[in-house]
Amino acid sequence: MGLVRQADAPLRGLNTFGIDARARLLWRLESLDDLPQLCEVLRDDAGKGHPQPPLILGGGSNLLIADDPQQPIVQMALRGLRIAQDDGNTVIVEAAAGEAWDPLVRWTLSQGLAGLENLALIPGTVGAAPIQNIGAYGVELRNHFESLDTVNLEDGTFRSFDATDCAFGYRDSVFKRADAAGRLVTAVRLRLSRVADLKLDYGEIRTELAESHITAPTPTDVADAVSRIRRRKLPDPAVIGNAGSFFKNPQIDAGQATALAAREPGLPCWPSGDQVKVSAAWMIERCGFKGMRVGDAGVHARHALVLVNHGHARGNEILALASRIRDAVATRFGIRLEAEPMVVGAPQL
Ligand code: EPU
Repeated sequence: MGLVRQADAPLRGLNTFGIDARARLLWRLESLDDLPQLCEVLRDDAGKGHPQPPLILGGGSNLLIADDPQQPIVQMALRGLRIAQDDGNTVIVEAAAGEAWDPLVRWTLSQGLAGLENLALIPGTVGAAPIQNIGAYGVELRNHFESLDTVNLEDGTFRSFDATDCAFGYRDSVFKRADAAGRLVTAVRLRLSRVADLKLDYGEIRTELAESHITAPTPTDVADAVSRIRRRKLPDPAVIGNAGSFFKNPQIDAGQATALAAREPGLPCWPSGDQVKVSAAWMIERCGFKGMRVGDAGVHARHALVLVNHGHARGNEILALASRIRDAVATRFGIRLEAEPMVVGAPQL
């Protein structure tokens, strides 16, 4: 326990892309008691002229390290899970930011709590989940979000955020903006229910359940089905480096979507508020990138939205491939793709 310091720290095992970068300085935070000391060492580091704010590392699953980070890294390792409030049907679960996401999902299900089943098997930590409002199979974190706690690493002050403060959007929140930089999420509270309200409308879930002959699914059945779908489609970072979807699905005006769909038959589109979401994977595949490999940087053969590291790709090689993809999609479809992972050591794509 305590605050663990490491200079010239290898990062390969700390990012799911498996990029072999090194950190000038890494601090591992295992206890809230060490926060004052962490703030102090970061102030010292800033005083020596090193770039700030620190990079906060959870599971490293939504990160592309293009070059060795010069800012200090804070590795979030706070642990703890508890039921914070229970009124019979609705239960608030509180999880420390360093807990891994999927084990949290499974723990809530083992407690008879429904809500997170569609979000099973998403890599990463609890603290990272609200930063990009993780989502899958028709559910987003914000659907079950209650509140979270943060500390400002510059001055050590605490602040809680409710859902409105977090300003959640599609793979987006206030924590992606510059004014929230240096704010460390320490704990997240989720609102779950003892009464399941299953969301089965994302087509593949029903098919998967039917294939297993499950007609009256439990939340755990849904989590198992989602996990099987994910294992089939998405590469396991333990086997081949990746950060899940590399691009967001673009949201465009309904008129533009209609014109595009007429020109590009088969383009998958879904309503999204007063806009339309179009499939980035489909467009990337149509541009011929699916399964492509340039050195050790590549596009996964089973899902065109997932960029992969076949072994020893540098972060900037993956970034170069991502730029090629973005340019090709812009030329053919007139749509600019936005990267989902945070890029470190180079401008955000
Ligand atoms: N598609 C292709 N080619 C492919 C893959 C998919 O044309 O190589 C088409 C499919 O036919 C389908 C459509 O694209 O019609 C959508 O595919 P999929 O269901 O796999 O979902 P996605 O839009 O590619 C999003 C999320 C995933 C999430 C799934 C399921 C984003 C950026 N990605 O992917 O999230 O798991 O839906 O809900 O919104 C992540 O964010 O890292 C992530 C994996």
